[in-house]
Amino acid sequence: MLKTIVLIGMMGSGKTSVGKELAKNLNLNFIDSDQEIEKKCKISIPSIFEKKGEDYFRKIEEKICCKLIDGKPKILSLGGGAFINSKIRKEIKKNGISFWISTNLENIYDRLLQSKNKRPMLDYNNLKKSIKDIYDSRKEIYKKADYTIRTKSDNKKNIVKKIIENL
Ligand code: S3P
Repeated sequence: MLKTIVLIGMMGSGKTSVGKELAKNLNLNFIDSDQEIEKKCKISIPSIFEKKGEDYFRKIEEKICCKLIDGKPKILSLGGGAFINSKIRKEIKKNGISFWISTNLENIYDRLLQSKNKRPMLDYNNLKKSIKDIYDSRKEIYKKADYTIRTKSDNKKNIVKKIIENL
């Protein structure tokens, strides 16, 4: 039986584009937790960080993610920090199946450098180090995902294939 399929991993790892492609393949809805947070708060993620701070963001993130991980078949892409929250991980264990999209740091760097969506967690004056520090602090937790999908290239069709093989 299909559960809520949850994609986790670093910012810029391709969770959203992989998630959309996967949803198309499995004929399921795609939901992005950050978009849901923005809808609920009616402001952008950077504005939430700027106006209310990270702690406030993490509380809203916990509430919204726990609600979305309800066991109903869908593809859910989580913001990079969501899986670090133990309550969210518990909810995934209960109602979901998790895939860590483990993209190499060079690719992540290239994507984040080009992305118009500026992430408030990053220091763009020292981007490589900033990515590496966040990755090092999180990787042991990302490893707790049910499956790890390692990717070197941008080939989202291959990544989707690997995920489907594990379902
Ligand atoms: C964050 C990742 C972002 C967003 C917020 C915090 C993080 O999502 O939730 O800026 O702590 O890694 P993406 O992973 O979709 O960029």
